[in-house]
Amino acid sequence: MKKFTCVNDIGSWRKAVRDALEIKRNKFAYKHLGQDKTLLMLFFNSSLRTRLSTQKAAMNLGMNVMVLDVNQGAWKLETERGVIMDGDKAEHLLEAIPVMASYCDIIGVRSFASLTDKEADYNEKILNQFIDYSGRPVISMEAATRHPLQSFADLITIEEYKTKVRPKVVLTWAPHPKALPQAVPNSFCEWMNATDYDFVITHPHGYELDPLFVGNAKVEYDRDKAFEGADFIYAKNWSAYADPNYGKVLSTDKSWTVTKEAMALTDNAYFMHCLPVRRNMIVADEVIDSSRSIVIPEAANREISAQTVLAKILSDL
Ligand code: CP
Repeated sequence: MKKFTCVNDIGSWRKAVRDALEIKRNKFAYKHLGQDKTLLMLFFNSSLRTRLSTQKAAMNLGMNVMVLDVNQGAWKLETERGVIMDGDKAEHLLEAIPVMASYCDIIGVRSFASLTDKEADYNEKILNQFIDYSGRPVISMEAATRHPLQSFADLITIEEYKTKVRPKVVLTWAPHPKALPQAVPNSFCEWMNATDYDFVITHPHGYELDPLFVGNAKVEYDRDKAFEGADFIYAKNWSAYADPNYGKVLSTDKSWTVTKEAMALTDNAYFMHCLPVRRNMIVADEVIDSSRSIVIPEAANREISAQTVLAKILSDL
């Protein structure tokens, strides 16, 4: 594997899950793979889980790890082409990328959507520069339009907890005070659509996702109907995708908060969220604190998804 930015990069999802579960059983059996290899993790945005789980995954594989927070301690990076650099940005990505690449074997990049320039976001302007100019395998640690390490961990978790061959999985929008990217829901759709699950998306009018990610999933605007018989409820907020409202918060309607009453409509569904989560906005305390909440094992599987991806890339170096 030369890069990991979307579901297509992983190949067969069934094999990927099998590999992940094998790695989960024997986390330290592959230490030889990463010997004398270095992972550079580059963050343009904040992180708790991605930072720690990916670092831990790399250490499990015997890798050295370097972490750089671009906005804290590094030169401010210019990402636009052809600009006169007379502002506060001291270094261009065009030099920074090959320099950073010369110090490592694999690069992980986190770079969120701007939510102001839809074209640049959906063309993955930052991530693609790393792919094009680093000469190194690149792992998306959440880019503008996708969060594949999260979605892979979500898939592993569903496979571990499902009790039906073809579970009903519902992605539900939930309220949040700030504008959030569509990367997690986009990516979740992409990975769920790769499976044969019964996959349903529910959200208020105006929150339609990019049709390329929605694919053949069923969109049900009536949340109660969507929740009926569900085996997994995956909650997430996102800002509007469609023009002219791209990146805007259109609603903070609390009737979309995932409550005990809403969960009662399901088939005793498990509750999932990628975290961090706003309690009593996205989900009621009594749901996230219940025995059906699997947000912690879901987050723990971030180590496993990252280790599986790194192991595949290291095997092909
Ligand atoms: N889910 C997730 O990516 O968490 P962080 O933003 O804390 O890395």
